[in-house]
Amino acid sequence: PAPGWSVEADVVVVGSGIAGLSTALRYVERSPAGRVVLVTKDLLSTGSTRWAQGGIAAVIDPSDAPVAHMVDTVIAGRELCAPEAVRALVTEGPDALRWLIERGTAFDRTGAGELALTREGGHRARRIAHAGGDATGAEIQRALSDAVRAASRIELIEHAFVPDLLIGAGVGGAVRGVTVHVMGEGERDGVGAVRAGAVVLATGGIGQAFAATTNPEVSTGDGVALGLRAGATARDLEFVQFHPTVLWLGADARGQQPLISEAVRGEGAFLVDAAGRRFMQDLHDLADLAPRDVVAQGIAAAMAATGADHVHLDARHFGAAMWEERFPTILASCRKHGIDPVTDLIPVAPAAHYASGGLTTDLNGETDVPGLFAVGEVACTGVHGANRLASNSLLESVVFAHRVAERLIRRPAPRPDAVADRTADLSAGLVAPSVVPRIRATMSRHVGVGRDAQGLERALRELDALAADPANADAEPGTPAWEAANLLTVARTLTAAALHRARHLTAPGGPAPRRGPTNVAVRIEGNAMSVDRSRG
Ligand code: SIN
Repeated sequence: PAPGWSVEADVVVVGSGIAGLSTALRYVERSPAGRVVLVTKDLLSTGSTRWAQGGIAAVIDPSDAPVAHMVDTVIAGRELCAPEAVRALVTEGPDALRWLIERGTAFDRTGAGELALTREGGHRARRIAHAGGDATGAEIQRALSDAVRAASRIELIEHAFVPDLLIGAGVGGAVRGVTVHVMGEGERDGVGAVRAGAVVLATGGIGQAFAATTNPEVSTGDGVALGLRAGATARDLEFVQFHPTVLWLGADARGQQPLISEAVRGEGAFLVDAAGRRFMQDLHDLADLAPRDVVAQGIAAAMAATGADHVHLDARHFGAAMWEERFPTILASCRKHGIDPVTDLIPVAPAAHYASGGLTTDLNGETDVPGLFAVGEVACTGVHGANRLASNSLLESVVFAHRVAERLIRRPAPRPDAVADRTADLSAGLVAPSVVPRIRATMSRHVGVGRDAQGLERALRELDALAADPANADAEPGTPAWEAANLLTVARTLTAAALHRARHLTAPGGPAPRRGPTNVAVRIEGNAMSVDRSRG
């Protein structure tokens, strides 16, 4: 249907986690009169940010240095990071953290009033600030949500799904806003349009493409799919990060699973296999605090060697007082599932956690489609390479949100385009929600921690068959079918990128690049997908 209502703004931000909120806030702080419409497909606080436990990395301690943070980031990323993006991240990180504090985020402090800092995997220094012990994301989300609600030049529209972008039909095809489907009541109900000079996608991750994930239900890869459909390039999509220590609730557990923060290992917990052996000590000089991909691979190997479907985390030596003070969220979530970490080993296994890749952007968050920006997990600035360093994601979101806001303020005003917009047909390319469990099963079986070319080829065949599933013909336009379509788009492009890497870029028997670091880019043109070396 044609939009029933229309609203104008300078910028429309899609998504309301740390990246979207920081972009909207920074833009109105820095622009004398600019107006932002912020749309979010559920409630303001339902994204991934509030689930982040461990913290936010930044160089605060005088004995630490940005160059040390840079080295740790690049090593964790297997040297597939973009150096200039990492440099921006680590040098602008401390200011980003101060900005969060000034906007009301209450980080944990030492008795002397300094920021309390911990360690996580891959960090060779204590540089992780945290809040509420293990509820860092929830505190940041609270503070930024309050600030956005109080900002008079930000209009918030909740329950607003963005099925597609409005693209000017004039020369260059610049993005001119979004189509919105609002499931609410009142003025902004039903299908509408937000017309704006720029669109910022801050839609978060893709974890729901897998059977077990730490991500909430809303993480369905909407922004990556939207960008790909508009002709943007995605990079490093194959680099899905599997968090090593997700509470294991049985082989049949599906959907969002409870996270056991890496900060638990940062404070001295360690992994043991079914025979009680500390297997990480033989695998890396940082042992249980090796980069996340190394630990996830180590766990997969330990499970294969013992025939178990999980391993255990031992943090009994913390004692009740430390558990209660430092990790209250994790303690409550373990106890809810009948495990008392004060006296019991915690069963854990890896699960899909974070998209290290996403829509390719420059250092100011702009994609290769004019007027389309991406920030946070949906974006690939290049800071994460093949494997994001722990607690760099919250940091990236703020640093690059500020860069996007600055760029939006400084760029020349977009030329008014008299030619009619192109909008997508909202009822085309739908996928039946009943297909989604099969997408997830295929992804977890063949595109998980352990991959090979044969399994990836099989996954692509299965996903192609799901795209042609007869049930899709009966799918009704609406959020479930749009999310299913987005999940399938992400699953297929991600698998194609992983297959390209397995065939051409990975040395037999391991993830090390065959011919030096090379990133993989994916584009969709019409019905065709192209996968090649990154142009970014
Ligand atoms: C964790 O607390 O282990 C997760 C933090 C992150 O993903 O950076």
